[in-house]
Amino acid sequence: MDTKVSTPRSYDSQYDLDVGDLVEKERIHRRVFADQDVFEQEMDQIFGKSWIYVGHESQVPNPGDYFSTQVGRQPVVMTRHKNGEIYVLENRCPHKGALVCPDRNGTAKHFMCMYHGWRFDGDGSLISVPVQSGYDGTEFNVKDPKNGMRQLPRVHNHHGFVFASLSPEGLDFKTWAGEGLRGLDNLIDRSPSGELEVIGNCYRTVQNSNWKIFLDNMSDGMHTSFVHHQMARAAQRTLEKFKGRARPGGLDVAAMLAGEPDQMAKIDLVAHPHGHFDMAAFAPELTGEDGEHYKAALIARHGADKAAAVLKQNFHNVMMFPTLVMQQSLQQMRVLRPISVDKTALEIWVFRFKGAPDSFTRRAITGGNLANSPSNVVAADDFEAYFRVHQGLKGPQSEWISLHREANRDVQVGEGSFKGATGNSEVCMRNMYKAWREYMTAETTRREI
Ligand code: FES
Ligand SMILES: [Fe+2]
Repeated sequence: MDTKVSTPRSYDSQYDLDVGDLVEKERIHRRVFADQDVFEQEMDQIFGKSWIYVGHESQVPNPGDYFSTQVGRQPVVMTRHKNGEIYVLENRCPHKGALVCPDRNGTAKHFMCMYHGWRFDGDGSLISVPVQSGYDGTEFNVKDPKNGMRQLPRVHNHHGFVFASLSPEGLDFKTWAGEGLRGLDNLIDRSPSGELEVIGNCYRTVQNSNWKIFLDNMSDGMHTSFVHHQMARAAQRTLEKFKGRARPGGLDVAAMLAGEPDQMAKIDLVAHPHGHFDMAAFAPELTGEDGEHYKAALIARHGADKAAAVLKQNFHNVMMFPTLVMQQSLQQMRVLRPISVDKTALEIWVFRFKGAPDSFTRRAITGGNLANSPSNVVAADDFEAYFRVHQGLKGPQSEWISLHREANRDVQVGEGSFKGATGNSEVCMRNMYKAWREYMTAETTRREI
């Protein structure tokens, strides 16, 4: 008889671990999710270095428009300057550091800090300082426009999708995005005009859990049959009433979530370098007159072969680590903004494909409401699961969580990408934490102070 028992390590023993020891090939230490020091390092090593999604240029369509958000913990504001260019600025006054734009979005001829009235242009340039004579003979040059709100060191606009990095160094955007870009490009290609625009404002929710628990769930095919079971069965019954008619957005997807694990297993999951992944399937059928119009418009733009390829490349979820999750078929994008080790904000943006039938836009809005509104029937169940995971991981005695599902059955596809043996594989999670480890153990790129 085997008399060995596993003895939990003491609480203190965990602090002997190096951050690189917290991620193994098939298991993850609970401190990755529940430790304040780890969170601080993530803000430096991941959110301070990687490319972070800021927003879409349609959120600032006209000169003077701005949208404020955060890159890591840095408050930023995306602006449309009078020259038509988009800038991403630190949302911080160079005088005493006050937030210059406290509102989420708006339009302003200039920015004026409310504390002592310094004024800035849309590119951050310092325009004026009240009672300038007070700076005569000092080291601060009030006449130098560069002494204004700082521009983030790196900004990349990918066909309207604006990303920024707090670090002047690191991988260029295309190298960082790599294969992860095919999901974003597919979203853009699905617009008959090649242009998208956000519809209204976003839903903003706060999850009481660590930011990675949400990302981890995005490739978790197994949970749907359990977490979403009741909602999905109701969606299936509703779907039957729409036979042969245009269906409300998201209903097909909601109904699919009722699938048994062996059905979810048929979904393709592909993990890419730098933590990105894509999950196939779940595209709504293009039926009826509007569907035919849409297909014809796509063919007019791309030609028949490419249009067919764009539509065939069905993605349910595409994740670009660490902040962006897209759902092409629902025309929506979820953007993660960590608040603290146990709180995560999520922005959910719904897009209009310019040139697509209005029914596509209505369907996208309905789908967005179904999955994300305060009365939604999908995310609320997920949030409860995330909360329970985070609560369970706070306990220090049991240290590891499992990523063993279908490990060692991953299939390499292309250079550095891996496909899960089935759609129930945890391949994308293993890949994400591998990337996490690479970020966290790399040399820190610090800006000069
Ligand atoms: S803090 Fe902004 S003007 Fe003083
Ligand atoms: Fe879910």
